[in-house]
Amino acid sequence: MAYKSVKGTKDLLPADTASWLHVEGIIREVMDVYRYGEIRTPIFEETTIFARGIGEETDIVGKEMYTFTDKGGSSLTLRPEMTAPVIRSFIQHSLGEQTALNKLYYIGPMFRQERPQAGRYRQFHQFGFESIGQDNPTCDAEIIMMAHDIYRRLGISSTLKINSVGDPSCRPQYREALQDFLKGVYDDLSPESQRRTETNPMRVLDSKNPQDQELTRNAPVILDYLSSECNEHFKETLALLDSLGVPYEIDPRLVRGLDYYTKTAFEFVSADLGSQDALGGGGRYDGLVQQLDGKPTPAVGFAAGIERLLIVLEKKAYEFPVSAPSVYLVGMDDGSRRWAFEQAISFRSSGIAAELDYAGRSVKAQMREANKLGARYVILVGESEMASSTAQVKDMKEGEQEEVAFDELIAYFTSRNNEDVS
Ligand code: HAM
Repeated sequence: MAYKSVKGTKDLLPADTASWLHVEGIIREVMDVYRYGEIRTPIFEETTIFARGIGEETDIVGKEMYTFTDKGGSSLTLRPEMTAPVIRSFIQHSLGEQTALNKLYYIGPMFRQERPQAGRYRQFHQFGFESIGQDNPTCDAEIIMMAHDIYRRLGISSTLKINSVGDPSCRPQYREALQDFLKGVYDDLSPESQRRTETNPMRVLDSKNPQDQELTRNAPVILDYLSSECNEHFKETLALLDSLGVPYEIDPRLVRGLDYYTKTAFEFVSADLGSQDALGGGGRYDGLVQQLDGKPTPAVGFAAGIERLLIVLEKKAYEFPVSAPSVYLVGMDDGSRRWAFEQAISFRSSGIAAELDYAGRSVKAQMREANKLGARYVILVGESEMASSTAQVKDMKEGEQEEVAFDELIAYFTSRNNEDVS
């Protein structure tokens, strides 16, 4: 039997993880300058955290969660997203009592039982950030700016779509107006949208069905129903984005697939992705902390798929830094091969990246391997070098070769390491 990784999941091999680590490094650098601290929560949580947090009527909760019962009979779920777990943790550890604003970020795997396709997996990875404690539009603008900065640093061009989805003071009136409109076209809507007309009418605007889209083209939009507070908040967020020079498109039909949003909702989309064009999305969720039994606490956040980001980078032939050994040691006979192994260990103890042959290959094959790996220097040692305790050191970039005494090798490479060895 040939075992394979489960459908919708992927192995990341060393050539892949090098790109991932590079991207994660940039995310962490941006998080550091914005002063966000990393939070790591468990991979699974009690199912109710997601059901209550994300909303029973959403696709995620309704169809996509990996839920199981443990031996104690508790219903647990592999996290499909991180906002609800972060808020659970925020409440559990009373983080709100320690500072006026908690700025948290995460990077890690999420799980959704969706139909796999390009850019859509069952285990995927998100990076995201949550700013918990203030309802100030500067927090909305900061969250958007961080995503913008990460994409800019990676040279990714994307479109920011933004909307306000109102709050409990104005959404019910909009919901009613939308429901009235949808009832007028009810018979022609897809069965899914018919059901949602009753349960979650705003999600009908997000239907992928072309006929639903056509029928709802002239549906009322939330922006016409915003309370003055929500309207002010939206205007101020946009004004901040204007002054920061972040371009955006107002999309009055943008509704996100999770129910916790209030006021600002946004998405970054990329033309380099196919039908799964959302690079990332987020928004404000002022009711979630209370929804999960905490004190009313405003918050705003964002999360993005790392696989989708990498798809875009690969498409535009992004040049990832390549990792290469500083030194490749070539031994010519048994004695020099043994020396090469011991010397490699000493190099490594001194922080010098060293590689060598483990397969007893010829000198020519070893040189070829050193080239392939992109080693900056090659050390050649045979019988006569062993006798004189002196190695031949070849600079593969300049093509020059010089003799270096065995006991000076570490110092030789340490000084070069600081200068030019990558
Ligand atoms: P979301 O829109 O469900 O939001 O997911 C955010 C991003 O995760 C998507 O835009 C996409 O890039 C990626 N993603 C989602 N599902 C998959 C999948 N099956 N395969 C590959 N990538 C996927 C949230 O998760 C919210 N928690 C965002 C947020 C944070 N809102 C406030 N704070």
